[in-house]
Amino acid sequence: MRLPLEDLHGSLADPLLDAMTFLNEATTRYPDAVSFAPGRPYEGFFEPEDVPAHLDRFLAHLADRGLDRDAVRTALFQYGPTKGVIADLVARTLANDEGLAVAPESLVLTVGAQEGMLLTLRALCAGPDDVLLVSSPCYVGVTGAARLLDLTTRPVPEGPDGGPDPEAVREAARAVRAEGRRPRALYVVPDFANPSGTSMPVGARTRLLAVAAEEGVLVIEDNPYGFFARTPGLRPTLKALDRDGRVVYLGSFAKTCFPGARLGYVVADQEVAGPGGRRGLLADELARLKSMTTVNTPALSQAVIGGMLLAHDCRLRAANAAATAHYAAGMDTLLRELDRHFPASERRRLGVSWNRPDGGFFAVLTVPFTADETAMERCAREYGVLWTPMAPFYPAGGGERRLRLSISSLTQAQIIDGVAKLAAFIGS
Ligand SMILES: Cc1ncc(COP(=O)(O)O)c(C=O)c1O
Repeated sequence: MRLPLEDLHGSLADPLLDAMTFLNEATTRYPDAVSFAPGRPYEGFFEPEDVPAHLDRFLAHLADRGLDRDAVRTALFQYGPTKGVIADLVARTLANDEGLAVAPESLVLTVGAQEGMLLTLRALCAGPDDVLLVSSPCYVGVTGAARLLDLTTRPVPEGPDGGPDPEAVREAARAVRAEGRRPRALYVVPDFANPSGTSMPVGARTRLLAVAAEEGVLVIEDNPYGFFARTPGLRPTLKALDRDGRVVYLGSFAKTCFPGARLGYVVADQEVAGPGGRRGLLADELARLKSMTTVNTPALSQAVIGGMLLAHDCRLRAANAAATAHYAAGMDTLLRELDRHFPASERRRLGVSWNRPDGGFFAVLTVPFTADETAMERCAREYGVLWTPMAPFYPAGGGERRLRLSISSLTQAQIIDGVAKLAAFIGS
């Protein structure tokens, strides 16, 4: 039996869906190369023995809450509630770390933020006339999820300060309306965005929310990196600034705990009014969709992350102090080494420039050549350093001469070595 690709779902012919796999494969093909490619956390903070300790702590917590052995057995081994079992701990963490008052009922625990994205897009976009606005460059996880759901996306360029320019959001929303379609929601990563590394200033956040309200657009805030801010509280989340329930908030434990747990969540506190007076929260509607996708998020993952939250009194910023310092030092080293290898005169001569994120995992380098997969392969093969081409992050084209550098999985020594190799490649 041979299945023609064109008879399968259209997304399968879209190169977007290969972007992640290609990078993972390249990393395995060049195991000795310094890899600025993956946005994975640094493994030096992970100890295998910690996993059973976290699990034990969570089981003790269940017992403390009065669950007997049979109830604990059911909680751990059985199918569980679709919305999850650690919403109370996640709500406490959001209150402690982000100043967000979230009712546990408005939370859905998901299989990574990725599932949260898929459920949110499915629930919010009612039909083919609904358009998702996305900042450009944009995380491929959301453009990919939209592609799977046959949703139309409309890119909104990032402004010079980071994040989508609020006025550009207004223009895009109006343009969509002028076509007779509905600009349903805007997807945005306001803190240390993937791939650009930039963070929206507070003023731009309030302006963005005002524009969204004026244009009747919902906001999907994805915040996997905000916990790593050097100065907590400097830039409140959109959700914290949201006064009219416009923001659906996606969280992930992939970077603050560990990605192997595949645990994320959605804060969906919007009320949904149904016919016949049926009312509930958007979280309940997401759970209904989830019951037909992953049924429920694995209890074991929730138990381990729950134990981890308990170990740190539901304070992930404090728990991640060493990781935050590690990533901040990595970013400082990256920017310092770029400065060292490309002094101002060299930058001008070669046509090289980069942005200066004040934290997070990513920075973007503009180079004088097409930074595509072929260039990346040559750089890995001949110079021993890997990076990520930016073009796949631009839904409507662009970014051909840009590459993303991620410091997250590297040591300082590797970053120093990697920038030297990259500089040699760029100068070649
Ligand atoms: C912006 C953004 N959102 C979501 C995710 C994925 O989160 P999760 O691993 O929880 O699915 C990532 C991972 O790299 C990301 O960069």
